[in-house]
Amino acid sequence: MPIYPIEPFRIKAIESTRQTTKEEREQLLEKAGYNLFKLRAEDVMIDLLTDSGTAAMSDNQWAGIMLGDESYAGAKSFYNLKEVISTIFGFRHFVPTHQGRAAENILCNVLLESGESIPSNMHFDTTGANIRAVGGRPIDLLIDEGNDPKSRHPFKGNLDIEKLRQFIEATGKENIPFGMITITNNAGGGQPVSMANIKAVSEVYHEYSIPFFIDACRYAENAYFIKLREEGYANRTPLEIAQEMFSYADGCTMSAKKDGLVNIGGFLCMNDDNLFESVQQELILREGFPTYGGLAGRDLEALARGLWEGLDERYLDYRLAQTAYFGESLIEAGIPIVEPPGGHAIYIDAGSFLPHIPADQFPGQALSIEMYIAGGIRTVELGSVAFAYPDPDTGEIKHPPLELVRLAIPRRVYTRSHFDYVIAVMADIAARKSTLRGIEIVTQPELLRHFTATFKIIAES
Ligand SMILES: Cc1ncc(COP(=O)(O)O)c(C=O)c1O
Repeated sequence: MPIYPIEPFRIKAIESTRQTTKEEREQLLEKAGYNLFKLRAEDVMIDLLTDSGTAAMSDNQWAGIMLGDESYAGAKSFYNLKEVISTIFGFRHFVPTHQGRAAENILCNVLLESGESIPSNMHFDTTGANIRAVGGRPIDLLIDEGNDPKSRHPFKGNLDIEKLRQFIEATGKENIPFGMITITNNAGGGQPVSMANIKAVSEVYHEYSIPFFIDACRYAENAYFIKLREEGYANRTPLEIAQEMFSYADGCTMSAKKDGLVNIGGFLCMNDDNLFESVQQELILREGFPTYGGLAGRDLEALARGLWEGLDERYLDYRLAQTAYFGESLIEAGIPIVEPPGGHAIYIDAGSFLPHIPADQFPGQALSIEMYIAGGIRTVELGSVAFAYPDPDTGEIKHPPLELVRLAIPRRVYTRSHFDYVIAVMADIAARKSTLRGIEIVTQPELLRHFTATFKIIAES
């Protein structure tokens, strides 16, 4: 039995959840067009839809909310946050944004032209969509082990250096306005990237004079994986490791709704003075004045405190051990997951769990639907619903390598009995999995279809 870690906190305020019956959930989901995003949260018993913006804030952060300075320009809370970001991330400039995708949007609008490409280990959906929205091409160059759900490579989020070099040579550095890496790799299992890989990626980008931006959402979890798994880092603090990671980059995009331990917020950092000028103009147009960038002063204050709490060793130790307990227990119950367990989520390999459902009948969506009906558990499909796109050259539908269902773990929210309940529900589904049926799309938008598409369960023939 894997070890469940002791929470490094006790509970001061609680939020009640509502019990529902299977019959009720069947009706609710049908009404929601079988899209779990369209359910009311109060109809969900355990919400593993996302770890984004769902953290429980600490008493220290709530105290910060009262102290937030709501001045339009030059608020004290902005300067508090600036100091924290400058210490941890070390870039010369930063602007707050309302969340991570706003930082991506600004970066893409300022630096990217139609037809250009942005390489990364693996872009998350919002990053890919922001690149496509201005006519660019998001390019994923993950190491092969990252696409093998059974590989226990310690850093499955690594970017393949050889593929990167070949891609730059083939595309031409003039067609690559910046390069990225996502830490940890959310779209590929929440897997970490090693320090050696971040450094090597940085060296290749810089050899070709390509600016290097880190998608930093889960940088603290990535830093702790480096401490646990990479030689030479066992005695370094998460802060020191984070500082080294960012020292290799020219900037970062950040959704603070993850390792910032806040419910809303993000930022964009950079070293380049000219870029900062353009970013500020874009920010004023889209988000707000550069000292608040779409956030309230109280949000800035909560984030300044949350960033420190997110780097706390006891917290990170508990966080990664909790995810490991959940993942290893699911494996024991016969559920195939992306191994080893990542930082913020467990990803069920729905493609191999439901081999009788082909990719174009969305096995991940089928499993997500069943988890809600059977147990009131909300998850998200990260397979062909989220990531299958027509190839821009051939028009042919490209399916992602894995059909995953993500069970994201909100920070400091759920305890062991919640996880044990999910494990029991999954064991029950495993026992009758051959009865699950494929899914058909009824309606869908052009971009980011998993948020709003509607579905139906394919009738038995
Ligand atoms: C790796 C990664 N990048 C970017 C984003 C976008 O952040 P936000 O949801 O704050 O816009 C997310 C959100 O889940 C993410 O996981």
